[in-house]
Amino acid sequence: EGTLTEYLDVMIEQVRRQVGDRKVLCALSGGVDSSVCAALVHKAVGNQLTCLFVDHGLMRQGEPEMVDELFGRHFGMALISVDAADRFYAKLAEVEDPEAKRMIIGEEFIRVFEEEARQLGETNFLVQGTIYPDIIESNSANGVVKSHHNVGGLPEDMDFELVEPVRYLFKDEVRVVGEALGLPHELVWRQPFPGPGLGVRVIGAVTPEKVRMVRESDAIFREEIALAGLEGQIWQYFTVCPGVRSTGVVAGRRTYGEAIVLRAVHSTDAMAAEVADLPHDLLRRITLRITAEVDGVNRVMYDTTPKPPGTIEWE
Ligand code: XMP
Repeated sequence: EGTLTEYLDVMIEQVRRQVGDRKVLCALSGGVDSSVCAALVHKAVGNQLTCLFVDHGLMRQGEPEMVDELFGRHFGMALISVDAADRFYAKLAEVEDPEAKRMIIGEEFIRVFEEEARQLGETNFLVQGTIYPDIIESNSANGVVKSHHNVGGLPEDMDFELVEPVRYLFKDEVRVVGEALGLPHELVWRQPFPGPGLGVRVIGAVTPEKVRMVRESDAIFREEIALAGLEGQIWQYFTVCPGVRSTGVVAGRRTYGEAIVLRAVHSTDAMAAEVADLPHDLLRRITLRITAEVDGVNRVMYDTTPKPPGTIEWE
């Protein structure tokens, strides 16, 4: 850890050298990687940095509010929030292929950025929270596993130069750097969240209804994990809408609803993962809550697949 905090000074110096006295835009998502990058670049070049939070309509519950509160109010960074949900939903309508979805989301992100950047005037640099596993898994020498939002999903004609201060770090190293930068513990140790957001947790075509089901069930899952005292002990836990409908019965009446899959895994660097051994009681409680509270959901399943052979996300 000593060497990593020394490396932090090197990274800050590198950002200063790359950027000079020009302006920088940061793609702030509220995730660990982009938050650490924002703090790092803010430390390096101060108010030359403007953070842009694009709400693609695929965020977790409470996320836009959290970003505003923490980075805008608490840290006092220049923060612009853009509600672009309609644009993303329109582009994604009826697109089923996972790689096509990732490309569309990544590309639309850059379009929104370019538009905002133009309004800000001269902005030459774009900060991205690319980390080392993103680069490895997007490397075509190994065959593309997934086109990560931060790497393969970028359009080729974008007119920013990238600043990627944590591109040689693994996740746990990014967290140590975040703490060294004075970011709040809860933020630094929060679970990772993919750039394409809930878009890769609705399998197949994205609809506002399915996103709502994932968002609401995810909020319940997170709440119950926290109540069980397991927060911070599981690398990642979230819900997926696989798009499978099944027959159910409530108060003697037939239902035909969507299913929700619970996924909870332990990992140290996201390259491999083991399924978390959640207590059966807890699974039962979460199942009852989701089927009772999330409109349109009548079945809940637990994903018992490690990585490999499964990936952590379903798409
Ligand atoms: P997979 O599903 O490939 O995910 O096992 C490994 C880790 O990466 C996260 N993930 C992403 N992170 N942009 C990101 O910044 C992305 O496009 C993306 N896709 C997956 C995933 O949540 C897991 O932690």
